[in-house]
Amino acid sequence: MTVAPAQRAAELRAQLNHHAHLYYVLDAPELPDAEYDKLFSELQAIEATHPELLTPDSPTQRVIGAVLSGLTPVRHAVPMLSITTETDTTEGGAMAFDARVRRELGLTEADPPVAYAAELKFDGLAMNLRYEMGVLVQAATRGDGETGEDVTQNVRTIGQIPLRLRGDAPAVLEVRGEVYMRRDDFEKLNERQRERGEKTFVNPRNTAAGAIRQLDPALVRQRPLCFYAYGLGEVQGWDIPATHAGLLDALAAFGLPVNGDRVVAEGVRGLIDFHQAMAARRDALPFDIDGIVYKVNSRELQQRLGFKTREPRWAVAHKYPAQEQVTTLLAIDVQVGRTGKLTPVARLDQVFVGGTTVSNATLHNVFEMRRKGVRVGDKVIIRRAGDVIPEVVGRVPGERASYVPNFRMPRACPVCASEVVRERGGMDHRCSGGVFCPAQRKQAMLHFAGRRAMDIEGLGDKLVEQLVDAGIVLSLPGLYKLGVAKLAALDRMAEKSAQNIVDALEKSKAPTLARFLFSLGIRQVGETTAKELARHFGTLDKVMTASVEQLLEVPDVGPIVAASIHTFFAQPHNVEVVEQLLAAGVAPKESAGEADDRPRPLLGKTLVLTGTLPTLSRDEAQALIEEAGGKVSGSVSKKTSYVIAGEEAGSKLEKARALGVAVLDEAGLKALLGQAQA
Ligand code: IVH
Repeated sequence: MTVAPAQRAAELRAQLNHHAHLYYVLDAPELPDAEYDKLFSELQAIEATHPELLTPDSPTQRVIGAVLSGLTPVRHAVPMLSITTETDTTEGGAMAFDARVRRELGLTEADPPVAYAAELKFDGLAMNLRYEMGVLVQAATRGDGETGEDVTQNVRTIGQIPLRLRGDAPAVLEVRGEVYMRRDDFEKLNERQRERGEKTFVNPRNTAAGAIRQLDPALVRQRPLCFYAYGLGEVQGWDIPATHAGLLDALAAFGLPVNGDRVVAEGVRGLIDFHQAMAARRDALPFDIDGIVYKVNSRELQQRLGFKTREPRWAVAHKYPAQEQVTTLLAIDVQVGRTGKLTPVARLDQVFVGGTTVSNATLHNVFEMRRKGVRVGDKVIIRRAGDVIPEVVGRVPGERASYVPNFRMPRACPVCASEVVRERGGMDHRCSGGVFCPAQRKQAMLHFAGRRAMDIEGLGDKLVEQLVDAGIVLSLPGLYKLGVAKLAALDRMAEKSAQNIVDALEKSKAPTLARFLFSLGIRQVGETTAKELARHFGTLDKVMTASVEQLLEVPDVGPIVAASIHTFFAQPHNVEVVEQLLAAGVAPKESAGEADDRPRPLLGKTLVLTGTLPTLSRDEAQALIEEAGGKVSGSVSKKTSYVIAGEEAGSKLEKARALGVAVLDEAGLKALLGQAQA
């Protein structure tokens, strides 16, 4: 018996919306993409033959949508307010807010602390989502707070935003929250723009705001956007939870994305703790935040506190140091990287940005610089967010004192005078000097000595600089000829430190094959590829003599990587470096390759590490897991096999519990590895 199209369409909508929630909001997909696509096509087909069955909550509506000629104004049912900002980024900011709240509530020192909800202040743009009978009917920007703009069809392209709420939805529910762009998506977007020689975007917030006001929804889809809910607009037919924390839980239960980094704090101390804890984690978050928002948790108290003109008295934004600052561009230098790439670097009048002092920032390449129109002496905007290197995002319009010539890339390498060549479609300039170039040699040496490579403690920036500049070490093998006397003769080097370095060099002589391969700095060979190579070939010799075809058999190795490895070992001078390293006593621990029959109890398992383990460092734990055949991932999903949690485990642990993923401690991990102590 065939199902009526109306019924089938409803089924498909429900299924697709369910899977979209698992995929976008919980990051825990249950259905392969191809299966999702199949259901999606089936629904599209039904809707094409029965247009009357098309509903606004249909997942197919995320991708359609016509080009508009302009955005329509929307009058907000409840004005979208702004919030008082506390610019004192120290704990004084929280104390001032708490003192104000207590005074306005008429509390004295004898009264108990006020309960607050503290959450992140997302750096995006505010959005009002209107759901009627559970269906998303309108999305509007904040505008001037009274009137915004209708951006419904663009918001529909945001996978995280449910087109239909889960569960028993109120007659009217307006959800307020922030549309934002993740930092990695922003970087990818800019990297693509750079490769194409196109204009780059200034920051994730502006990019998100620009995208959401696009008239062509197809363009919006190319700018991946996300959303977090944090409040309400108009509500009809719903008993609003009694606390803000309860409200956020309820919104999450409706299927809306709510950020997990939030707490309820009893009194000001908890607010300060949260503000500080998140400051320490700010760089590690996948998106920009510009502060913490504190809200009086109880709705009843919120109502008692009320509003002063346009801002609630019960909430405050406690800022963090800005991630963008204006300073003066003093000079432009050219830096030569490990692979010989020339990068223009801005020397700046020191400025405090994103929590640290910055005096250099990247200008990426000449073409981008020209487009941004920056010249020496200009006032420029510096952005430093996350662990990305600080960059110059543009110039502040203004007059220039006198004629300043346009910057040009040097024709000869500023370090070794070798010819500079243009590569990658003409976008990059590269020194052709190879390891003859001291700059490349220094970078190669630093990479070689790095913690994840040969791990030679004490061989850092300053020492490498001295060794190469003084001509003491000319190549990687030369490092192993260093003696205490030679090192101790260097500027500011005590005998004891010299001995430590010699010891560290000695200790580094027995790396795993994977580390050794990684340390050579072969282009395209990162840590993961190096591990795969070691696992696949087992011996150094086999890697060095592998043909491109053989290299292509290694998981994750594609034609570009294979070619790069093959070319590297085809150069006699690279082979010579390897041979000299071996002659100096470096002996990579070879694994038995695919024939390896050591037990690999974690084969096919994905583990997530969180918190501090009692005896193992994160790197050690990761190495053990990988040796046992397992993979370590940075985020918890339904596919995670185990979460290994230590002291001060945070949101990953919470998520594991929410998803029912097994959680183990260090002893549990060791048991998995078959290392359990009897
Ligand atoms: S609450 C009545 N919570 O910051 C209170 N705002 O001026 C309304 N924002 O335009 C705001 N994260 O776009 C609130 N967790 C958060 C927020 C947040 C970001 C933005 C919002 C608003 C601005 C405050």
